Amino acid sequence: MMLPLQTEHLQLRAFKMEDIHTFAAYRSDPLVAQYQGWQTPFTLEEARAFVEAMLTIRPGLPDTWYQIAIERRQDGVLIGDCAFHILPEDGQQAEIGFTLARAYHGQGYGTEAVTRLVDYLFDTFQLHRLRALCDVDNLASRRLLERLGMRREAHFIENYWSKGEWRSEYAYALLRREWTEPSKR
Ligand SMILES: CC(C)(COP(=O)(O)OP(=O)(O)OC[C@H]1O[C@@H](n2cnc3c(N)ncnc32)[C@H](O)[C@@H]1OP(=O)(O)O)[C@@H](O)C(=O)NCCC(=O)NCCS
Repeated sequence: MMLPLQTEHLQLRAFKMEDIHTFAAYRSDPLVAQYQGWQTPFTLEEARAFVEAMLTIRPGLPDTWYQIAIERRQDGVLIGDCAFHILPEDGQQAEIGFTLARAYHGQGYGTEAVTRLVDYLFDTFQLHRLRALCDVDNLASRRLLERLGMRREAHFIENYWSKGEWRSEYAYALLRREWTEPSKR
């Protein structure tokens, strides 16, 4: 199964150079960046370098983050992105991440996109386990991960420095068998 991936309302596809303005704009929104690693404003130059880097790699390289663009099918607008990183230890586990532009929050698009990402990762790469890290105050992200059925396994106390303060995170995880056979959980 290769990109692009379809869902009812969305297409998950590779980034392209035409995306850089929209990408820089939503990454520059302090609300969108609040619990993320980058600083605002996120410049056009940074966006260009980011997309250039994505164009040189393919999904699934070990120990390499791959960012997937999320486009709304009805109008072809780039509404956000999701990403995964196959962890180097054994090649069978990945971390996932996701971001939507503010105008598209709260409409179910995050859940729709990440559900498809999870399917893709378990099917295509036959991964054993996925994990996600999320700031304890990031309610929208927590709700999304819990709705997917991800299990909260850890609460790290002030484990990362972000935007001038020590912050705490929850770690979530999901096994392939839990995803494919939820009745056996
Ligand atoms: C996390 C994010 C992708 C969620 O996307 P979304 O499309 O709004 O999520 P969904 O609509 O699919 O639903 C997620 C849940 O969060 C809720 N939610 C959405 N925005 C919220 C907010 N600001 N505060 C509290 N809850 C919120 C939704 O109502 C929904 O709850 P429900 O399960 O009770 O219905 C989006 O908020 C985002 O891009 N945030 C900024 C980037 C980020 O922090 N990414 C995650 C890093 S770990």
